Amino acid sequence: MKIAILTSGGDAPGMNVAIRAAVRYGIKKGHEFYGVQNGFYGLVNNDFIELDHKRMSGIISMGGTFLRTARFPEFSQEENIDKALQNLESRGIEGLIVIGGDGSYRGALHLSRRGFKVITIPGTIDNDIYGTDHTLGFHTALDTVVDAMDKLRDTSVSHQRCSIIEVMGRTCGDLALYAALSGGAEFLVTPENPISKESIIERLKQYKRDDRTHAIIVVTENMINVHEFAKEITEKSKFTSVATVLGYIQRGGSPSAQDRILGTRMGAFAIDLFEQGIDNVAIGIENDRLIYLPIDIVVSNKRRLNPLYKLVAEVS
Ligand code: F6P
Repeated sequence: MKIAILTSGGDAPGMNVAIRAAVRYGIKKGHEFYGVQNGFYGLVNNDFIELDHKRMSGIISMGGTFLRTARFPEFSQEENIDKALQNLESRGIEGLIVIGGDGSYRGALHLSRRGFKVITIPGTIDNDIYGTDHTLGFHTALDTVVDAMDKLRDTSVSHQRCSIIEVMGRTCGDLALYAALSGGAEFLVTPENPISKESIIERLKQYKRDDRTHAIIVVTENMINVHEFAKEITEKSKFTSVATVLGYIQRGGSPSAQDRILGTRMGAFAIDLFEQGIDNVAIGIENDRLIYLPIDIVVSNKRRLNPLYKLVAEVS
C-alpha cells in the first residue's frame, strides 16, 4: 500500500517519532511512503516527498516536525479537497496518516467523508482530544513548563513574591493542571477551574497573615490578562507579583522518553490498522492500551473533566 503522512496545526514534540515509526515499521511490511510538506496546504499544493528508511535517521530526538506544518482552514473548501484527492490519487496513494490536533482532525474528516482512507494520530501539546488519555507532545511540554516553574519558584522564594505563570492549552486546562500538580502551585486557573481573581487575592492576604513567603499561580492562556492581574495583586495584597508568559517555548524541544514511546506505538499502530482494513479512525491511548474511534465521534465529543482536579485543592 502507498501511504502518505502529514503533520498539521501547532507542531508538537513527538511528531517526528510517530512518522519514523510508521515509515520504518511500514517499510518492513512492504508498504511505500510519502511525506506531505506543510500539512493540508501541501496536500493541496502537491508538496510531496518520498520517505525511506534512511530519511528517518536522526529524527527521533528532534522537536517540531521535519515535514513542517501549517494552519490551513481553507482546506474545508470543496475545490481544495478535490485538489488534495487528485494529488493523492495521481501517485496511487491509498491511505493518509494525519498527525495533529482538533483542526487537523476536521481536515481528515473532509477526506474520509469523500471515501479516502485516513487514520489520525493525536499530536498537540494541549491534551484536548477526545478519545485519548494523552496526546503526543503533551508530556514534553509539561516537562518544559515544570522546569520553568521550578526556576520561577527559586526567584519567587528569594524575593518573597507571587509568580503568575501563563501556559498554553487553548481551551483545555490540562497542561496547567498537570503543571500545577507537578510544580506545586498554590493556585490553578483553567477553563475547567475558573476561580475568581478576588478569591485568589483574598487567599493571598491570608497567606501573608500566615507568614507564607511566596506563591505560584498557574493560568491557562486566554483566561485573564496575567500582567494586569499581577499589578492588581501587588496593589491589593502585600505580595509583589510578577507574570511570566511561557509562550512558544512550550512547543519546542526534544521529545521526552514518554512521548517517544507513545509516538512509536501510535505510528506502528496506524500501519497495523491499515493492514487490518480499518480506517477513518482516530488513534488514542486509554489506560496504556492503544484504541481507535471513528474520527467524527472524536471531533464531535468533549473530554470529561479530568479527575485530577479533585487533588489540586488538597495539595496546594
Ligand atoms: O494547539 C497548540 C497551540 O500551541 C495552543 O496551545 C495555542 O493556543 C496555539 O497552538 C497557538 O497557535 P499558533 O501557533 O497558530 O499561534
